[in-house]
Order: sequence, then structure tokens, then C-alpha cells
Amino acid sequence: MEDKTIDIWTERYRPYSLDEVIGQDKIVKRLKAFVRSKSLPHCLFSGSAGIGKTTSAIALAKELYGDNWKSNFMETNASDERGIDIVRSKIKNFAKTKPLGASFKIIFLDEADALTPAAQQAMRRTMEKYVNTTRFILSCNYSSKIIPPIQSRCAVFRFKPFGPEDIKKMIEMICKSEKLKIDSSGYDAIISAADGDMRLAINVLQATAVTSDDVIGCDAVYSVVSVLKTEEVNDILTLALSGKFMDARKKLYDIMFVRGLSGMDVIKAFHRVILDLDVDERSKACLIDKLGEYEFRIVEGGSEDIQIEAFLAQVAAINPVSK
Ligand SMILES: Nc1ncnc2c1ncn2[C@@H]1O[C@H](COP(=O)(O)OP(=O)(O)OP(=O)(O)O)[C@@H](O)[C@H]1O
Ligand SMILES: [Mg+2]
Repeated sequence: MEDKTIDIWTERYRPYSLDEVIGQDKIVKRLKAFVRSKSLPHCLFSGSAGIGKTTSAIALAKELYGDNWKSNFMETNASDERGIDIVRSKIKNFAKTKPLGASFKIIFLDEADALTPAAQQAMRRTMEKYVNTTRFILSCNYSSKIIPPIQSRCAVFRFKPFGPEDIKKMIEMICKSEKLKIDSSGYDAIISAADGDMRLAINVLQATAVTSDDVIGCDAVYSVVSVLKTEEVNDILTLALSGKFMDARKKLYDIMFVRGLSGMDVIKAFHRVILDLDVDERSKACLIDKLGEYEFRIVEGGSEDIQIEAFLAQVAAINPVSK
């Protein structure tokens, strides 16, 4: 019988070795040097979702340990809802046993930035205590949320989001192997929905493939993902820029509610489009500046509706000079 996990394409197409990791060449080069020297410092992998942090850590473990990798590698999540104490005791138990056929084991701690500064202080002691047998790879979205003493104990690796070319290459490869047909509007829609996140790109492709039995085009993609299309964002921002705040707001809300978009989805869609808008450079700079502020407010817990509205209100006040 076929293994069920294989049905998930992100798993089926997850790179096995460091050589197969796409788009993170400098990082792969540094990790390979660790494999050659069979040594590893504590590491901090930072970067947005779905760009290869977990993948690279697992590939590194496979290359370091060969067949023994599973006994020498543990993956755990810092934001485990049962609490950091469980995580710490799990770490302790794993670190206490001897590495198998190697001089150290690896603990991969996902979402390390979810730890409070106090919990990070405790982590720092744990890292020191077991350093003879254990190396930590901490993974986080924002390295600025990791306390400086931990950062200074780690080699920091900044993973970058994928450009359109890398995502297209991956989608092409999967389409070939799954015998799917896709047209250029389909590629563009997946690339814009993924916004640099390879996991999202692959998931969108799989969801689209299930629901469409023809050539995959942009409509099939948009029917499974909730994104704002480029033309829609263009219309909304143009309305707002011409001072028509209420119209821009209505248009945005109509789309947001029908497709169930979050405030963050909207911010990301705006970000994608602003640089190509047909307005003068000063207005673009102003829009990006405001967008950054409202992104921060939403991340910090501000009400999404109010923040998005406030952003549109600011846009309506910009008053761009015509080009
Ligand atoms: N560099 C890459 N090369 C090839 N495929 C990749 C790469 N990065 C991600 N993928 C694909 O996306 C999936 C998710 O990647 P991964 O689990 O490594 O993301 P992550 O960076 O750990 O994200 P998160 O922060 O959400 O944990 C992988 O299973 C793989 O299919
Ligand atoms: Mg991960």
C-alpha cells in the first residue's frame, strides 16, 4: 500500500540532500563545510515560512549521520501548547543519551521566536549544559525576537524568500512528474499567491490539480486560493489615491469577505503591487512607508479591519503628483 504521507506533495518533493535544496546556495555551501569537517556550531536559521529551514536541517542531519540520522536528530516545537517545560524535558531526555556513531546529536527547535525572553534565557543555559553531546539548530521567522546572548552563541543563517524563477522551476518539475498541464497564467497565479513561499506554491498546485481536470490556468488557481488579483489591487489603490476612500474601502471589503482574506493577505497583496503602480516615485515611497507601519500594527495585534481602513485613509491623503 502506498504511504499516506507521500500523498502530500510538499513531502514527496522535499529535497533529500543539501544538493537538492533550491535557491539557498550560500547557506548550503556553509552547511556542506560542516558536513566535511564533521563539526557543527549551534545554528540559528531565520526567515519566512516555507523556504527550506526544516528541509535544510533534515538534509544536513542525513548527510552528517547517514542511516543513523533519526536517532541523532530530534525536531521539536518551541510553541508546543503543552508548554515550554515539556519541551525542555524532551530536550533533556534526548540530550542525556549518547549520540550514535557521532560525537554530537542535533536538536532542531522550531519557532524559537515564540519563546518569551525568560524562556530563552533558560534555553541558553540548556544549550551550554549539553554542548558536549548536543548542537541546537534554532529556527525562527524573526531573528530580532531572539535574545542577543543566544544569537551570539549561534552561527546565523538568513534564508531568503524564493524569487519567481525558483518557484516556477519547482512547479514545472512537479507538473512534469505528475503529468499536469499548466499555462503561463497558471504559473503567474501560483507565483503571486505563493509570495516567495515554496510550501504554499506546492500546496496551491496540489489543491488546484485536484479540482481541475483540464489545463491549469489562473482561474483554477484563484478558485482554490484566497488572494487579491493584481488588477483588483490596482483598482483599489487607484481609487484611494484619487481620494475616493469610501469607494476603495467598499471594493476591498466586498472582495475580502467573499474570499475570506485576512488583513495580512491584503497587506502582502498591496506590497506586491505598489512598486509597479502607475504613480510617481515619491508616492510609491510614501505608500511603502505607510504599509510598513500598518503591517507592524497588525503583527502586534491591532484590529485588522481598522488597520486596513486606516491605511486606505492614509493613501487617500497622499495626493500624488501626476507623472
Ligand atoms: N530550498 C528548497 N528547495 C526545494 N524545496 C523546498 C525548499 N524550501 C522549501 N521547499 C518545499 O517546501 C516545503 C516546506 O519547506 P520547509 O519545511 O523547509 O519550510 P520552513 O522554512 O521550515 O518553513 P516554516 O518556517 O513554516 O517551518 C518542503 O517540504 C519542500 O517541499
Ligand atoms: Mg519548518
